[in-house]
Amino acid sequence: MEEYLELISDGLYKFRGGKLFIEGVCAEDICREFGTPVYVYSSSYIKRQIEKLRSAFKTACPLICYSMKANGNMSILNLIRKAGCGIDIVSAGELAKALRVGFSAEKIVFAGVGKTKQEIVDGLTANIFLFTVESVEELKTIQQIARQLKKIASVSLRINLDIDVDTHHYTKTSKKETKFGMPVEQVGSIIRSREKFSYIDVKGIHFHLGSNIKISGVYVQALERLKDFLKELNFMPSVIDIGGGFGIHYRKEHLEKIESFGKNICNCFLKNFSGSTMIIEPGRFIVGNSGILLTTVIYNKRTPHRNFLIVDSGMNDLIRPALYNSYHEIVPVKKKDCCTVYDIVGPVCETGDFLGKDRMLPADLKPGDFLAVMSAGAYGFSMSSNYNGRPRAAEVIVSGDTVKCCRRRETIQDLWKLEKTL
Ligand code: LLP
Repeated sequence: MEEYLELISDGLYKFRGGKLFIEGVCAEDICREFGTPVYVYSSSYIKRQIEKLRSAFKTACPLICYSMKANGNMSILNLIRKAGCGIDIVSAGELAKALRVGFSAEKIVFAGVGKTKQEIVDGLTANIFLFTVESVEELKTIQQIARQLKKIASVSLRINLDIDVDTHHYTKTSKKETKFGMPVEQVGSIIRSREKFSYIDVKGIHFHLGSNIKISGVYVQALERLKDFLKELNFMPSVIDIGGGFGIHYRKEHLEKIESFGKNICNCFLKNFSGSTMIIEPGRFIVGNSGILLTTVIYNKRTPHRNFLIVDSGMNDLIRPALYNSYHEIVPVKKKDCCTVYDIVGPVCETGDFLGKDRMLPADLKPGDFLAVMSAGAYGFSMSSNYNGRPRAAEVIVSGDTVKCCRRRETIQDLWKLEKTL
């Protein structure tokens, strides 16, 4: 257990005197003070991850644009902004949040296959750094709107390099069948005819291969492919955005260390694109293992077939196990012998509502005991919902010995505050 915690959290999550601590704060105390379900984030972990990225990629010195979709809590965004990062957004909502937190427009990149006209207007008005263009149709729309607003839109063209990556089917984004980016030929023809787009400045090329990628090889493959393609066109963009997707440990799976991950990508980049600026868009890598979800056992339900721990968090709080069959380690906040096999399930009325299956946990867990669902900082709260009439969890941030609430728990009244009984 100790070894595993060290691996995922760089020592920021630890058992001390048999109790789980996040930095200097005891998990059990958080449960009692803030109630459960509650998301807990370690601020030091986030800062360290950014430093690790900087150091691993130091030879190319990229602009780090944190991918807000992984975790859009404004306190976390502010921490990341203060660490000098830019931001990768995908909607008007994320744009407004980024601006509100104080990200400067020249560090905002705007991706997404379905930007509406209003979203394009918002981005242009805010003078964002780059629109990541995902289709010819979108490029034409941006040109039209930029002309009306008398502004030049800076864009990067998202290329779909048809590269397969070893990750869940739903999070592969660079195979030709996926909706993302444009095929090589279309990008080529845009570049050749870019003079026609008088209100567009094609500054960059973007690719994003997928999420939770464990090795650097596919990025190197993508960069090599891109080099050949651009050479043929005789076009050297000033920006190359290699997207995000850098993997993290959820368990002791094989994962290339970030030092060599960054070094391999940078070496290839500098060999082929030494005059261009690199952008990276990590989400999960920065926040994934900063966070856990603390939950309370409601029932220890035994049947002749299975042992169930029914807890007060479900797929509405953390959908990753239900949606991708993702593995999240589950540990008791008080260290005990783990000798009974359980399915850890939520209260939601769906068979797919589970947090973990076939897990060894203490035999005597009883109602009121607390469990920690690990590696929940990315795509945890940000994908949560009110399904089954369940108010969303609270979020707290730990920094050394202090813990502060950064999003209050939703109340029952919050559930209907936007509705009308007609
Ligand atoms: N850039 C672009 C254009 C993206 O689409 C994404 C993620 C990222 C960056 C950040 O990827 P990351 O570094 O976090 O892997 N809900 C899924 C992950 C979906 C990722 C979507 N795009 C999950 O829980 O695994």
